[in-house]
Amino acid sequence: MTESPVALITGGGSGIGAAVARRLLDAGQRVAVTGRGEERLRAFAEELGEPEELLTLVGNASDYDDVRSAVDGTLTEYGRLDTVVANAGFATHDSVADGEPAGWTEMVLTNVLGPALLIRASVDALKESRGRIVLVGSVAGFVPTPGNLYGATKWAVTGLAENTRRQVTEWGIGVTLIAPGRVETPFWDSSGGLPPGRLLTADQIADSVVWAVRRPAGVDVNTVVVRPLGQPN
Ligand SMILES: NC(=O)c1ccc[n+]([C@@H]2O[C@H](COP(=O)([O-])OP(=O)(O)OC[C@H]3O[C@@H](n4cnc5c(N)ncnc54)[C@H](OP(=O)(O)O)[C@@H]3O)[C@@H](O)[C@H]2O)c1
Repeated sequence: MTESPVALITGGGSGIGAAVARRLLDAGQRVAVTGRGEERLRAFAEELGEPEELLTLVGNASDYDDVRSAVDGTLTEYGRLDTVVANAGFATHDSVADGEPAGWTEMVLTNVLGPALLIRASVDALKESRGRIVLVGSVAGFVPTPGNLYGATKWAVTGLAENTRRQVTEWGIGVTLIAPGRVETPFWDSSGGLPPGRLLTADQIADSVVWAVRRPAGVDVNTVVVRPLGQPN
């Protein structure tokens, strides 16, 4: 019997990460999810009926010790690692001209340093499995938004994806950048509510992630930009 594939998703207790976790579990994969909030992770596991195929790991995506221990914990529990999803991220929803700088450090570290740390910590295991790195960027990492530092962090993720691909492709590791437009998730809670217009559901984005992850061996889907119809920018 071949063992089912294993995915590690940062920030997987809510929103897009949780939707990807559900979809991969439905597809028969084993999944580890991280997040800073233990309660959120526990609630997510309870909601799914605490399956053996789901591992929850408290940790900060911008702390290398935490990221390394999440990778090690996943390998110890499941014995292999096929996919990492650098999904943890958030926006301060303000601007460089009139925002609150105190909130920017954590945002930049989580959104930019976090994916790099996850790649560094998992690359050896992914070499072995000839696995996949998925980076959750944003349309804001392709289209400039006036004054938006969050968008600049996502431009960095766009660059990191291609820089990483150019290095790891020769080791048989694929790299997928998923760049969502507006998605209905807790991401918007700190901005005072959802933006106007149509939004994607987290499940709709998760479908794209799982589609990219489950391509046949040798096929490397690199950049997927998904907007809700009607989002002009
Ligand atoms: N929603 C959108 O419209 C949209 C559009 C484009 C891109 N994105 C991107 O999609 C990704 C997922 O966001 P989402 O929309 O699903 O929002 P979300 O529900 O708020 O998910 C973010 C998750 O990341 C975790 N997280 C945040 N900072 C973390 C850190 N330093 N270490 C570990 N976990 C951390 C959060 O849990 P804890 O707070 O418990 O740690 C949360 O579970 C983000 O990278 C976001 O930038 C979202």
